[in-house]
Amino acid sequence: MPDVETDVLIVGSGPAGGAAALLLSTYGVPNIVVTKYGRLSDTPRAHITNQRTMEVLRDAGIEDQVIAQATPQHLMGDTVFCSSLAGEELGRLHTWYTHPSRMADHALASPSAICDMPQHLLEPVLLNSAVARGTSLRYQTEYLSLQQDSSSVVATVRDRLRGDTYRIRAKYLIGADGGRSQVAADIGLPMVGQMGVAGSINIVFEADLTHLTAHRPSTLYWVLQTGSDVGGIGMGLVRCVRPWHEWLIVWGYDINGEPPDLTEDYARRIAHHLIGDDTVPVTIKSSSAWTVNHLYAETYQSGRVFCMGDAVHRHPPSNGLGSNTSIQDAYNLAWKLRAVLAGEASPGLLDSYSAERAPVGRQIVDRANRSIGETSRIFEALGMLSTEDPDQLRRNMDARKLSTPAAEKQRRALREAIEFKNYEFNTHGVELNQRYASSAVIHDGTPMPVNPRDDELYHHATTWPGAKLPHAWIGSGRTRLSTLDLGGQGRFTLFTGLGGEAWVAAAAALDIVPVLIGPGQEYEDIYGDWARLREVGDSGCVLVRPDNYVCFRSAELAADPAATLGAAIRSVLWPS
Ligand code: FDA
Repeated sequence: MPDVETDVLIVGSGPAGGAAALLLSTYGVPNIVVTKYGRLSDTPRAHITNQRTMEVLRDAGIEDQVIAQATPQHLMGDTVFCSSLAGEELGRLHTWYTHPSRMADHALASPSAICDMPQHLLEPVLLNSAVARGTSLRYQTEYLSLQQDSSSVVATVRDRLRGDTYRIRAKYLIGADGGRSQVAADIGLPMVGQMGVAGSINIVFEADLTHLTAHRPSTLYWVLQTGSDVGGIGMGLVRCVRPWHEWLIVWGYDINGEPPDLTEDYARRIAHHLIGDDTVPVTIKSSSAWTVNHLYAETYQSGRVFCMGDAVHRHPPSNGLGSNTSIQDAYNLAWKLRAVLAGEASPGLLDSYSAERAPVGRQIVDRANRSIGETSRIFEALGMLSTEDPDQLRRNMDARKLSTPAAEKQRRALREAIEFKNYEFNTHGVELNQRYASSAVIHDGTPMPVNPRDDELYHHATTWPGAKLPHAWIGSGRTRLSTLDLGGQGRFTLFTGLGGEAWVAAAAALDIVPVLIGPGQEYEDIYGDWARLREVGDSGCVLVRPDNYVCFRSAELAADPAATLGAAIRSVLWPS
């Protein structure tokens, strides 16, 4: 007999495991988290927390806790390209939707704002809330292996304090054990791509850099230095962890050579190099080496075992998608597990997790890796790719300051190359336009709407089944709620308008929360935004899953709303 039993065993306490635990406990599902070490993440790693993730955290009731600790959007976006922080500035880009023309896109898309929440601050918020709601968190507990049959999964774990092993039986197991996932290996998930594409070093340090950064507030300062890295090109990132005194450097090393010896002196030398002023006092807090990967799993499930987060999508930090996607994986799976465990859905519903999330994983792995390559446009514009001689490199870069036609051409090329980095730092569509196709979505025969703007850069709100519920502010008495606030909370929600009263009656009978929006009703479309966005008539309906994804819609009142809605919800929850 196993020593411990639970409904869901989660391996890993990073953003994926933490979010899975939080959501499952919020939905009342018993769960245990085992995590290898005696602490949560002790380095900042992920930080860009996009609007979709904030919507998940808002639904889980912890958005305020995150906002209280995060660096807000207005301090995130004056991204600088320079030769060092104290040196020459090559250009800037408004990032994370801080350009005046993108601020409206950002505000219209969501009730939640993007923010910068370092991972070592986010994980305690996720896990503390999860534990407060019922999660059993076991530190110093290492997953070793698993066995599954048709009714359960039994994992063998090692208590690293006592040194002994024991077994945990669960109805389902989630492998959220990161980029070296043992769980994914044990269940043989098919992986595509390559690990170890390039080498990187993280250096966390403290230094008061207010005088070099506060006048151009950003989360990212890109330092292009000649002659300081492989091939004579040095590109370093000085990332703000806490304005303007705590920082994280990302610096490349040649993965084909020996990894550098990460002494404190070495780390300090790089920090001073990128700051461009050796007199600034620097305190090194930690340094570590990691690799850039380009790898994704083609499926995320084997039987009763599911993987999420870096376990199934491994890629560089470009575009800031890793922890965001990990948390969104958890949001997709948690409500499905609850419904199946409660007997409200067949296990077939769980197949939709992989069908919906694996394409997203592949998309973000490719996107993040492409962004790295696109940086070379800046090098090229500066004349950094044509020579490895440091003096010639400097002359090539300085050539743009001349009053010649060639220099004008170079200046234009540099401007365009920096602007092209919108595909790394302003990809609103990549963050919000994910469309699901699975048995848990009922398509209505209409084609997927075409985004009139660039689908990577711009969000396109739609109620097309498989899309995220569009955000609109709805009035309720003296308060204003987002459509996303009316949905979520672990329940299915049906939106309709005047003339759709029969949908309301049908929804209530099926344990679906009905929301009737119209003048004189509890909910009013005060700005008319919902009518503009909903793509169905007043008497139509939009059915939304607990993760605020549209799974069914009807343009108008059906002849038999009870039968139509009943068939729709059955098809989602009990796929044949
Ligand atoms: P994660 O690796 O965080 O967690 C794995 C967990 O499993 C840990 O708790 C570990 O201890 C545990 N574990 C492993 N093996 C185990 C075992 N055998 N038994 C028990 N426990 C085990 N992302 C983003 O969204 N925005 C951003 O801005 C950035 N920026 C960024 C910068 C830098 C420099 C890096 C290196 C990375 C980022 N990321 C990012 C990526 C982000 O850090 C990453 O995607 C997430 O940490 C992935 O979360 P997971 O929970 O999947 O794995």
